[in-house]
Amino acid sequence: MGRVLFHSLGEQEQNLIVKAMEARERAYAPISKFQVGAAILSDENEVFTGVNVEISSFSPTICAERNAIFSFYATGARNFRAIAIYGTAEGTYPCGVCRQVIYELSPNCKVFIIYSKDHIEVESIADLLPHGFRWEEV
Ligand code: THU
Repeated sequence: MGRVLFHSLGEQEQNLIVKAMEARERAYAPISKFQVGAAILSDENEVFTGVNVEISSFSPTICAERNAIFSFYATGARNFRAIAIYGTAEGTYPCGVCRQVIYELSPNCKVFIIYSKDHIEVESIADLLPHGFRWEEV
């Protein structure tokens, strides 16, 4: 969808951006050194954060986005409308697995990609995951 200015965002979305940036400091990435923070904005305007956590046998490693979403689910809450992502590389977009999770749980979700506080891109999850899978009984 394009670039947005931090100061043009509403209070809730500004808070979301700040929380994702702060979360990156708490990432646990001893293997890749690639730190990622994510934050999701609930429909009740609460923010939940997540960080990537790396494990040396690799497959248990979890991305920041899924960590944020699954922690939110653990509270019993379900509805969120935006996610912000801040990674070590400028412009860290969600991996394919996280795109599926975001799409399945919040098909109209806004995705903020934070390059810096002065450079934020916003996308819709449907654009990031064209023809996303939805399970239907056959
Ligand atoms: N990672 C995330 O947490 N989110 C992304 O969107 C991309 C990748 C993590 C997984 C791994 O710990 C590290 O970044 C390098 O791939």
